[in-house]
Amino acid sequence: MSKEYIGHGGQISGTTKLVGLLGWPVEHSLSPLIHNAAFRAAGLDYSYVPLAVHPEKLAAAVSGLKAMGFVGVNVTVPHKVKIIEFLDVVDKSAKLVGAVNTIVFEDGLATGYNTDMNGFVHSLQSENIGVRDKQVVLMGAGGASRALVCGFIEHGAASIMVGARSSVKTEEFSASFEDKRVIGCGWDSGDFAEAIKTCDILVNCTPVGMYPNIGQEPPVDWALVPRQAIVGDIIYNPPLTKFLKTAHAAGHRVIDGAGMLVEQGALAFSLWTKQVPPRTIMHQALAAVIK
Ligand code: ATR
Repeated sequence: MSKEYIGHGGQISGTTKLVGLLGWPVEHSLSPLIHNAAFRAAGLDYSYVPLAVHPEKLAAAVSGLKAMGFVGVNVTVPHKVKIIEFLDVVDKSAKLVGAVNTIVFEDGLATGYNTDMNGFVHSLQSENIGVRDKQVVLMGAGGASRALVCGFIEHGAASIMVGARSSVKTEEFSASFEDKRVIGCGWDSGDFAEAIKTCDILVNCTPVGMYPNIGQEPPVDWALVPRQAIVGDIIYNPPLTKFLKTAHAAGHRVIDGAGMLVEQGALAFSLWTKQVPPRTIMHQALAAVIK
């Protein structure tokens, strides 16, 4: 067969292995672009397709994907928690986070993983920033924050303070972890201010500052944050949020959300293909659409 007919993240043929994204909606996802660029670069006959699945059709969708021989899928909002009941095996990462963002179909079994969990930590590590024994402060107590907390726990952080606008919700959130290193409080509290004073890593896990609300940022008293603290954001659009611009102006090294998006995708890529992901290509594909 001539090269032109081989999938490689674009052209689909009878031999093309399929992966995709289960969500509702899926139109705005950048994952098809990142993964198809990666498959092309790696010379793999794979193609990544967006799959809009209504919540009521989720069980049927999982059976259908198995029946059609899909290699795997990513899972996004609103299915990440609900999908667990339709899987055969749940990996430790997904058990810890309580949510699945990647499925592998193999030998008739659907196995769920959570690659968000290590996505942010890996993006730090790729910049030579270690996590072990570090004091971490996260802003936001939703699903993304939960994945980061698990990643920081797994990689040996000393403490993880989670602050958000609602003290009640945040305390419930932190109490849901058995690990005593995780503490939660309102981000306007004295406890939060104390944690900020000694933090090594501070990350925004709220959607505050995400396109189109690019003029907003979560509230931080920058005078309290040690100058050497690394400041991160999980938002990747815009690439440099107002939060990160302010942090940079205050003298901090900043880590943007593109790294986490690429790393969670890279982990999924290796689960599906058992190959080393072409991370640079994945970064370039993302950077080309988010300026
Ligand atoms: P996800 O589950 O995708 O992480 P989310 O649940 O919408 O996202 O929000 C994550 C966190 O950001 C939550 O702590 C949320 O606070 P609430 O639980 O009180 O909604 C917080 N958050 C979302 N929008 C916010 C806003 N405009 N201002 C402050 N905090 C916000």
